[in-house]
Amino acid sequence: MERVLNITVNGRKISKLVDCELSLLEFLRDELHLTGTKKGCGKGECGACTVILNGKAVTSCIVPVMRADNGVVTTIEGLAQGGKLSPLQEQFILKGAIQCGFCTPGMIMSAKALLDVNPDPSREEIKEALGGNICRCTGYQPIENAVLSAAEIMRKGEK
Ligand code: FES
Ligand code: FES
Repeated sequence: MERVLNITVNGRKISKLVDCELSLLEFLRDELHLTGTKKGCGKGECGACTVILNGKAVTSCIVPVMRADNGVVTTIEGLAQGGKLSPLQEQFILKGAIQCGFCTPGMIMSAKALLDVNPDPSREEIKEALGGNICRCTGYQPIENAVLSAAEIMRKGEK
């Protein structure tokens, strides 16, 4: 069955006829070609597909696309502004928090959802917020360091 989906993605309002069977992840990658969001397990277990839907980090592989109807979605493509990377993106690079990079978009989106509501998180709070995101490369500590450092930069207002 197809229905019209109304959605705002990275600030862009979209109205599109979609197959209701699609997941939000399939819609973002296959229909909008926003391939920064990755598909890992496809079962809600690895966090690679994390995006922000209505202010909350969600694993988009298990969100039916129509659940995002009239919703607001931010993906990794929505973070850089005017060609400048966001503090989180920059700090992931600078702190060695990226190796193969497959987990990175999901990690950054989970971290952004945290910092949006808690601008000064402890390392424990960061661990908890990123608990659903699996990284097979970095050992997590550089990722936590990157989030701590981005939070500090954002608090100082250096956007
Ligand atoms: S691909 Fe969605 S949680 Fe793994
Ligand atoms: S950098 Fe490779 S899975 Fe995280």
